[in-house]
Amino acid sequence: MTWLWKGPVPRILLLAVLFLGSPKSCLSLDNGLAITPAMGWNPYNAFSCSTVESIYHTQAQALVSLGLDTLGYNYFNLDCGWQGTERNSTGGFTWSTTAIPDGIPALADFVHNLGLKFGVYSDGGFFACDSVGGTAHFLGSLGFETEDAETFAQWGADYLKYESCYFVSPTDFVDFDPPIEIEVCVQAPHYIAMSDALAATGRPILFSACEWGVQDPARWPASEIANSWRIANDIGPPPSWDNLFRIINELVPSTGFAGPGGWNDLDLLEVGNVGLTQVEQQTHFAFWAAAKSPLIISTDLTEISDEALDILTNKRVIALNQDSLGQSISFKRRYTNEYDVWAGSLADGSIVAVVVNMQNSTVSITLELSDVGLISATATNVITGASLGKLSNSYTSTFEAHGILVIQLSDFVTAPEPTFTFYDAAASGNILGGGATTRVVNDTATVVGFVGEGGTLEFTGIDGGETGGTLLLSLDYINADVTSTNTACSNCRNAFMSVNGGAAVQVQMPLSSSLSWDILFNGYLVSLDGFKPGETNTILISNPTGFTPDWYRIGVAA
Ligand SMILES: *[C@@H]1O[C@H](CO)[C@@H](O)[C@H](O)[C@H]1NC(C)=O
Ligand SMILES: *[C@@H]1O[C@H](CO)[C@@H](O)[C@H](O)[C@H]1NC(C)=O
Ligand SMILES: *[C@@H]1O[C@H](CO)[C@@H](O)[C@H](O)[C@H]1NC(C)=O
Repeated sequence: MTWLWKGPVPRILLLAVLFLGSPKSCLSLDNGLAITPAMGWNPYNAFSCSTVESIYHTQAQALVSLGLDTLGYNYFNLDCGWQGTERNSTGGFTWSTTAIPDGIPALADFVHNLGLKFGVYSDGGFFACDSVGGTAHFLGSLGFETEDAETFAQWGADYLKYESCYFVSPTDFVDFDPPIEIEVCVQAPHYIAMSDALAATGRPILFSACEWGVQDPARWPASEIANSWRIANDIGPPPSWDNLFRIINELVPSTGFAGPGGWNDLDLLEVGNVGLTQVEQQTHFAFWAAAKSPLIISTDLTEISDEALDILTNKRVIALNQDSLGQSISFKRRYTNEYDVWAGSLADGSIVAVVVNMQNSTVSITLELSDVGLISATATNVITGASLGKLSNSYTSTFEAHGILVIQLSDFVTAPEPTFTFYDAAASGNILGGGATTRVVNDTATVVGFVGEGGTLEFTGIDGGETGGTLLLSLDYINADVTSTNTACSNCRNAFMSVNGGAAVQVQMPLSSSLSWDILFNGYLVSLDGFKPGETNTILISNPTGFTPDWYRIGVAA
């Protein structure tokens, strides 16, 4: 489902303004859990909702016999399909006696006796999710939060994944566009109710919120009520490269909200499953690790290949995920249709740089160290462990199709920050064509929207400096065109930028928020050619087949 800002400002936007005006913290989750991202196993990507006791037994045993628990994978979690469909005579939560004949308390003991932690699963709505189009009507916890939290604690639960099916009405299975009740401190009432109920049990239970990113949970902020929150719709099954690209684009605006105790959840791992190449599985795992996502294996461990195990057991990549600083990599630069550069800091003061090859072929890619703010550094390849020695200015290496490079950079020299001269999109000298129009965001920010599909925005009077030529631009824009399905540009929008009437260059910009058309992304960098010396340059922005983001301003580096 796609939301596109068109016509009158929707209600969702007005409410978001209200909320943004009052960024007050009034809740606090202090359960001491998820100081580093959770690691473990969950059945969903391999078994969907068709889980039975014997599967849980063999998978838990395999997790231990493969030694995955000793690497940190020690949450053994349930997903959909084990629950009952009716509460018992005293209103208690029940399980399917067909699926779990010995009962959940016995399964919890089985898991605990293996030295693992036990995770349960429920839903904040009238019924839970299922894989039969919403007809199973498994129990949901809405209205029973206190009772169910106590039951889960009695069973010995250490983790609760909490989903959002039938969240709004008992007849609406999945509402990806729910009415939002945004008020200070009660941004997400169903999640707050369960978070409070879990806290009241006195048992430490990791709370994993799963509303698929539809209400921008990072900004509730979900860190005040949960230990992790899904930022996007499901990765599969089946997984595909397009799913990874969709999730990566949706992560962009949320990276700053992750930290010890609360993490962006990019979804269960697909390593070991059909749908991604080996290289793509490596990219998926290393990127999830560097973004500090929970690392929850979700494959049949009794049949896992050596290649998949190699990916999941890489101690250097796991250490990156579990780094005590807890900083997610953040988006640095996209070379459209070529590669992304992301980077973040680690506890020892080093920097991790991540390059993802978006191309479907083997290519050579040169990482410019300036894209991660450096001039030189000593580098190690995190995936292979190989020392790369001292790098100056750049590092060139070969990438397989959709491959990844993760390097740790220490003993570095930082690059000077570029300084930009900014030009507002809504400035009077600019030329708006077709349907392009200004929109007031607040007292200080007015943007130009409806650019594309005939609408054009032309910046005029841009200073090309003394030499002109190729200049670095910094784009401040708004794009909340969120989607839960894969499109040609899932969770991104394309702009075509032409300098002084020259060839239009495609620039692909990820989300600035998954909810609000009032939140900027600042500093999207792109180099464009064709500038002349002096102040008579123009930049024309268009898109013949879709809308570009809304434009606040562009900076041009001196
Ligand atoms: C109902 O379920 C709850 C939770 O599982 C349990 O504690 C309680 O004993 C059950 N009551 C009856 C009557 O079975
Ligand atoms: C990408 O490569 C895979 C594997 O070689 C191939 O099956 C697929 O069709 C390619 N996709 C595109 C868009 O070229
Ligand atoms: C106006 O909105 C922009 C974009 O979200 C934000 O950066 C800025 O701080 C806001 N200014 C005021 C005065 O609220």
